[in-house]
Amino acid sequence: MSGGSHAVYPGSFDPLTNGHLNVIRRSAAVFGRLTVAVVVNPQKREPLFTLEERQAMIRECAASMPNIEVMDFRGLLADFVKEIGADVIVKGLRVVSDFESELSTALMNRSLSGIDTMFLMSDAKYSFVSSSLIKEVFFLGGDVSGYVPEPVLRTMNARRNSLPR
Ligand code: PNS
Repeated sequence: MSGGSHAVYPGSFDPLTNGHLNVIRRSAAVFGRLTVAVVVNPQKREPLFTLEERQAMIRECAASMPNIEVMDFRGLLADFVKEIGADVIVKGLRVVSDFESELSTALMNRSLSGIDTMFLMSDAKYSFVSSSLIKEVFFLGGDVSGYVPEPVLRTMNARRNSLPR
């Protein structure tokens, strides 16, 4: 791809899901370089996993992809993207309600920085998969092995085993 070849894929990744990994794989095939940017403090709530854990899970899952790097950022995404000299933000869209919130976010980010957001349609088989749902199902005893990569499942099991019974 000419121009726009360094993309940033931002998120909380608390934790990384198969849906995220699918977007990472497909973006890495389109852009020359992909920075997965883990927000330090997600706005929604206190993360379950530390920044280091969230990044380590992504690094392990993306280890075979040479054009991917994992960074963290705090503050405005638009500032971070400009700071590292990236050309474009990439996001996944699962359902129409994602579009509604992503539209204003993408327009605000472009207004702040001049940087466009490009969207990949999530693979239909992951359209219902979100980190928050995965955590809820997991801690209520459900099987999430089909929705998260193996290193994430391992980290989740370790976290559950370390909790007081
Ligand atoms: O995985 P998430 O929680 O849906 O990711 C949300 C994220 C990190 C992409 C979003 O909260 C974000 O961009 N945060 C940085 C703060 C910011 O730039 N806010 C203004 C958005 S227009």
